[in-house]
Amino acid sequence: MTTDLTIFAYGLPKAELHLHLEGTLEPELKFALAARNGMELAEKTVEEVRATYDFTDLTSFLAVYYPAMNVLRTAEDFFDLAWAYLARAQENGVVHAEMFFDPQAHTSRGVPFENVITGYRRAAVRAQDELGISAELILCFLRDFSAEYAMATLMEALPYRQWIVGVGLDSDERDNPPAKFAAVFARAAAEGFFLTMHCDIDQAGSVDNIRQVIEEIGVDRIDHGTNIVENDALVELVKEKGLGLTCCPVSNSFVTGQLKADEIVGLLRRGVRVMLNSDDPAYFGAYVADNYVALAEQAGLAPADLAQLAINSFEASWLPAGRRATFIASVRDYAAANGVELPA
Ligand code: ADE
Ligand code: ZN
Repeated sequence: MTTDLTIFAYGLPKAELHLHLEGTLEPELKFALAARNGMELAEKTVEEVRATYDFTDLTSFLAVYYPAMNVLRTAEDFFDLAWAYLARAQENGVVHAEMFFDPQAHTSRGVPFENVITGYRRAAVRAQDELGISAELILCFLRDFSAEYAMATLMEALPYRQWIVGVGLDSDERDNPPAKFAAVFARAAAEGFFLTMHCDIDQAGSVDNIRQVIEEIGVDRIDHGTNIVENDALVELVKEKGLGLTCCPVSNSFVTGQLKADEIVGLLRRGVRVMLNSDDPAYFGAYVADNYVALAEQAGLAPADLAQLAINSFEASWLPAGRRATFIASVRDYAAANGVELPA
């Protein structure tokens, strides 16, 4: 049922900061790309593809996620993928997106880095021109590959330095702690990239990994990271540093069985810069505004809470201060136009 809150959530200007472009591959596009590249897929219908989305945790999700990417080969394929996401993002009220991409998921199977980056970049440029969305790219290293391969990927990215706003770390966290990539992230920081890392939900060692990303890596943001509620000192530290936590409630429900609403809302009430994102929307069946609605329904959030989450999305973004302020003013205008009062 469409409610006033759903309409409010969709129209709310927001930034999306935790979105894997490869996680936006909808089954229909997967079939189109397979046909264009002359590939035969095991599944013959959209329903058969969706029937493979049987995840119980991060590892079982990744086991479905990586093989699906085999249809992505040419720069045009990567463009089409990102463009389809950006059109959906616009319908979800996204005005700024900082989008993850996983080059090693492609270079490791023989696809040139250049195909990946040029296709994604073309979509980002066109999004600004035709959709009014500012779109940036974050290069993620796959943490289940070696630190040496990550460093080689960083070197491969340097000629495209102006097209990449930051670097991140994703994939399977088990036995792949942040410290494994300390040298790679130190080099990336020296090259002027912003830094973020996944601290996935309910991992063995979650809290220590969160401590590592803050104290040893010096990240500018944390992806997921809601297990921080288990350690008050770390909560105070992210508040003091103004670090954003990019939460993904619907994704959480797929990999842990819960939205983790108490954790996210608890952090919001404590003044931590949490905001909501879709993570891998094609796989979890929810784009970013749907995440706002899901959390609001589960936790009884008011429109003013959703507006605060949207303000946090800009506060935690890597936009220049002036553009951040303009977007935040647009959230305040939107709230006022809808009769929603926000604290000054
Ligand atoms: N790659 C895509 N989605 C991911 C997630 N939620 N955690 C780790 N790696 C990912
Ligand atoms: Zn993620």
